[in-house]
Amino acid sequence: MLKTVDELATEFGGLEGRRVLVRSDLNVPLDGTRITDDGRVRASVPTILDLSRRGARVVVAAHLGRPEGKPDPAYSLAPVAGRLAELLDIPARQATDTVGESARATVDGLKPGEVAVLENVRFEPGETSKVDAERGRFADRLATLADAFVSDGFGVVHRKQASVYDVAQLLPHAAGGLVLDEVAVLRRLTEQPDRPYVVVLGGSKVSDKLGVIDSLLARADRLLIGGGMMFTFLLAQGIEVGRSLVEPDHVDAVRRSIALAADSGVDLLLPTDVVVAPEISAEASPSVVAVDQIPGDQLGLDIGPATADRFRAAIEDARTVFWNGPMGVFELPPFAAGTRAVAEALTTVDGLTVVGGGDSAAAIRSLGFADDQFGHVSTGGGASLEYLEGKTLPGLAVLDD
Ligand code: 3PG
Repeated sequence: MLKTVDELATEFGGLEGRRVLVRSDLNVPLDGTRITDDGRVRASVPTILDLSRRGARVVVAAHLGRPEGKPDPAYSLAPVAGRLAELLDIPARQATDTVGESARATVDGLKPGEVAVLENVRFEPGETSKVDAERGRFADRLATLADAFVSDGFGVVHRKQASVYDVAQLLPHAAGGLVLDEVAVLRRLTEQPDRPYVVVLGGSKVSDKLGVIDSLLARADRLLIGGGMMFTFLLAQGIEVGRSLVEPDHVDAVRRSIALAADSGVDLLLPTDVVVAPEISAEASPSVVAVDQIPGDQLGLDIGPATADRFRAAIEDARTVFWNGPMGVFELPPFAAGTRAVAEALTTVDGLTVVGGGDSAAAIRSLGFADDQFGHVSTGGGASLEYLEGKTLPGLAVLDD
């Protein structure tokens, strides 16, 4: 059972004045210091505010990107902490290190209800170390900053890292509301989803999705494949894909998945046409070709309009939809139509629609959709896929008392 913040508060006889370390996922896309999609920051606000309103002294820990275990200004959480403070509308103090003098002084200076944001936990090599003792040492230092731990960074619960996993073993802990909400939705997808259950997968790499494809084939009625990963599926069927992105090492695994789909009676929908161009550029002149007519010197960058229509039709009568990964290079207008068509189709569904993952969530927002047009927009990309794959997520398992 995952303990709630309410239960944790009861254990303490109230959280007034208690130092509570919250692990949030504030890993947002940045263009320099400008946040291009603040969805994860917004999703982190309710738990932090809840703790603040209970009078806790709130210490927020998070990562940004993948710095190499040492401070790197390009990965400073400062711009994100600034956005968090704006959204919280209460002062949030920023420490300039993670567990050093600045962190300690900032936490010591907190009054009940105030919030401190530590610097990027991945500036410390112990955070991501594969050696238990190294992670443990960093977790010990984090734990000295708090009386209790609340795990609210759903997007990172699939990582066995110090601020996600080890620190939960050192402090009384609870799952934050975001983690509980995400788990509740994903559970609905794994336990008796209403049918038809349609899964749409895209994104660039098929290698990231092979595990989840096989477990989804045991549950879904239809599996729709787009995005860069479609080209490895086409290659597996002997189709020449020009200069499109492929992962030749995974062709055999993809062939096995295609056979598994046939054996399990799952309708596997692969693109029949694609948008191609000579280069990945907003100025490139795109054309639409059948999948077996991709010119040798061009690359596929989106599903074609006939495929978009088939996908739309396959989604519209669904009662449950899970979508992870854009259908094309949606960031560039000539290659955004496929992703837009899938997003639009989801908004018409009479049932549960779940948009999983950082990229897909950023895609719908950048195409002008609002989160509330979908049943649930997950903050977890890898985490939601690993959950659906049936893997044990260390950051959830450690909370289970
Ligand atoms: C994500 O972006 O999926 C999470 O924040 C986890 O980040 P990571 O893949 O760098 O561990």
